[in-house]
Amino acid sequence: MKRLLVSLLVVLPLLSGCTKKTNEILIGEYDSLTGSDATFGLSTNKGVRMAFDEVNDAGGIKGKKLSLITLDDQGKNEEAAAAVTRLITQNNVVAIIGGVASGRSKAAAPIAQSHKIPFVSPASTNPDVTKIGDHVFRVCFIDPFQGFVMAKFATENLKIKKVAILRDVKNDYSVGLADVFNTEFKKSGGEIVADLSYQAGDIDFKAQLTQIRSKNPEAIYVPGYYTEVGLIAQQARQLGIKAPLMGGDGWDSEKLFEIGKQAINGSYYSNHYTTESTDPAVTEFVKKFKAKYNETPDALAALGYDAAKILIAALERSADLSSKSIRDELAKTKDFGGVTGKITLNENRDATKSAVVIQVDGNARKYMTTITP
Ligand code: PHE
Repeated sequence: MKRLLVSLLVVLPLLSGCTKKTNEILIGEYDSLTGSDATFGLSTNKGVRMAFDEVNDAGGIKGKKLSLITLDDQGKNEEAAAAVTRLITQNNVVAIIGGVASGRSKAAAPIAQSHKIPFVSPASTNPDVTKIGDHVFRVCFIDPFQGFVMAKFATENLKIKKVAILRDVKNDYSVGLADVFNTEFKKSGGEIVADLSYQAGDIDFKAQLTQIRSKNPEAIYVPGYYTEVGLIAQQARQLGIKAPLMGGDGWDSEKLFEIGKQAINGSYYSNHYTTESTDPAVTEFVKKFKAKYNETPDALAALGYDAAKILIAALERSADLSSKSIRDELAKTKDFGGVTGKITLNENRDATKSAVVIQVDGNARKYMTTITP
């Protein structure tokens, strides 16, 4: 009896370990599912799940189903790091999809790198993210390009010369993008008439906006996340500032329209794709996404889908589904036809892609132009 028990104790964990290993491929995902930029994580997750469901419905990869474990980082750097540690050491995932916010990727990706687990960010645009190491990839463009895009749009399309900057100083993405814009706008002959700061979580921006008003800029560049941007738009209009705001991808959320209301109407931001595109990859994706979730996919849904698809392609090419071979296959990603454009991962594990400029038009995103690198 005792012997039987002992052998059962030995065999059972092995068996359960086996079933998992043979029938499933465990992939981790973490993102903000709650907090002031919750739509980032919620949208990304929808895109990732859609891609995974498609593969699983078609029989999986090498006879195995993809199993996605998603954790919430609540929009906090330390929670992002904790989530990645847990995904790797407790859930034993072979690869990770995550993080939108660059600051959170910078906190979490080093953990994946040190465990040699491939990490694919759908949307972190700060240049430092992939410099963390050879296991860190992204499928989006980077901020040196994104900042250039809005400087070019301001100069050539809006034909303006005087811009004020209002940046979130505690946000790596915001600071990086503000710096690039500052340099690029001056390079093209423009003047930065003020460069002021706030911090995510702030609700009163009147002091900074009053200072900005006194400089009479033709636009205000606010490369932050949607919650604060919506409030800043409201308060700018209350102070009588009529100049449009300009921003980056961190604006892209339905919540921007809800919070900013008519105050954000007419403002511009750079983004990863437009649902107005007639490219079949986009129209097909938008159609399937609407059918599944009954909502229009934002840029994060599209980037989440593309990140998942690129990982899936690497899993399909991988001989043994080990993290090492998945990493090596990810690095070979070339000319992948994504929803957000053609994706080739270069030697820095970054993608070079075009950006679009969007104008807020009520509750809709009006496509203005495409700018190529
Ligand atoms: N690029 C932002 C960052 O790095 C995240 C983001 C991407 C937000 C796309 C919205 C849309 O922090």
